[in-house]
Amino acid sequence: MSVSPTSTGQQPGILDFDRIQQVRQNFPILHELVHGDLPLVYLDSAATSQKPKCVVDKIVEAYEKYNSNVHRGIHALGDRMTTEMESAREKIARFIGASTAEQVIFTSGTTMSVNLVAHGWAARHLRPGDEILLNEMEHHANFVPWQMAAQASGATLRFLPLTVDWQLDLSRLDEFINSKTRLVAVAGMSNVTGTIHDVSRIADAAHAVGARVFVDAAQSAAHGLTNVQTGNIDFLAFSGHKLLGPTGLGILYGKPDALGEIQPVFGGGHMIREVTKSGSTWADLPARLEAGTAAFVECAGMGAAIDYLESIGMESLARYEHSLLELAHARLSQIPGLTIFGPEVAHKGAIVSMVHEQIHAHDLADLLDRQGVAIRAGHHCTMPLHELFGVAATARASFAFYNTPDEVEKLASAIEKAIEVFQRRSHRRANRSL
Ligand SMILES: Cc1ncc(COP(=O)(O)O)c(C=O)c1O
Repeated sequence: MSVSPTSTGQQPGILDFDRIQQVRQNFPILHELVHGDLPLVYLDSAATSQKPKCVVDKIVEAYEKYNSNVHRGIHALGDRMTTEMESAREKIARFIGASTAEQVIFTSGTTMSVNLVAHGWAARHLRPGDEILLNEMEHHANFVPWQMAAQASGATLRFLPLTVDWQLDLSRLDEFINSKTRLVAVAGMSNVTGTIHDVSRIADAAHAVGARVFVDAAQSAAHGLTNVQTGNIDFLAFSGHKLLGPTGLGILYGKPDALGEIQPVFGGGHMIREVTKSGSTWADLPARLEAGTAAFVECAGMGAAIDYLESIGMESLARYEHSLLELAHARLSQIPGLTIFGPEVAHKGAIVSMVHEQIHAHDLADLLDRQGVAIRAGHHCTMPLHELFGVAATARASFAFYNTPDEVEKLASAIEKAIEVFQRRSHRRANRSL
């Protein structure tokens, strides 16, 4: 299967503050009221994106019109469902710049994709003395599986230091990438600081010593920052649900030789060539790494999500989101007592993680929720990073192209109101205890 150059036939337009109102019409959930009568301000897209109606419709269509197991059905429905699934694979391949669809493996999510490489490749290929290079900004999904692989193989984990403004200190790459390095695992974009990492520079350094590069694109893929060719990436992972698609579907991309080195971690139907009592042989890629029934309806939904994103245009989407980020930084940095963790906006994507000097992140998120503003609080699966921050939790607002400048203002004024409410309550409590 090669990847055809275009599928949507739609011309991406410039995304601006006017067109965004039309775009929002495609997302029914954005017009929901919460807590009875409050308009929803959804600023939690880094956790999961909302879904345009075309994706929901595609899923309903699949279940209503051609639901049938893929690859095995010798009937019309089975053929149709298989075509939908394989066409989604081709769209995804094109979306990330892969040259063939066989390089796209369907998994259940980013976490499962990382585990597939950690357990199927690293744990089996690495030896004591080999090194895996990580950093303390990574999501646990791009951290814990490598710890497990290091334990299983005897390899050593090393950590590229961070700069004071929460970027990777690439000036120290030479110190940390050497002849022992076998793998560098890095996110395309941090899910906390929003920092965008220079993946192709890291890949060049890794390849110079014969190491592989694994990119966790769970965040970067949704912001149009992911191209496996320009990044010269060996392995790449992301989740459908953060990219307008359904839950339960993930992608693992690999260069053919890199994928070829992964041993199947899961055995079962679909992944075999032949099974006898004495042993089994494996099918070709991608089936070899896709044991069991695929999430085929979700794949069809993902195909619709990619079509939709392409109709918006990823460059235009990224530019628009960045303008929201600039607005958010400018406005939030004026709020007294609020600290934002992350580099300057030029080096980051549309995520703002913050703490207030008096209010715990969970309380802040709760006070915002009562005003209809949905953000997330916690360690965001980055405990080592929060240890560096010196706080147990941050409050994170994350933006997508369906958010508006008005919502940025609502976030800021909701935070101001939350601070006011909190301080009033604290005064009352202090007075009562006098
Ligand atoms: C950077 C990053 N990597 C990995 C993951 C894990 O994704 P999933 O839970 O969909 O497997 C996330 C989810 O938030 C993430 O933000």
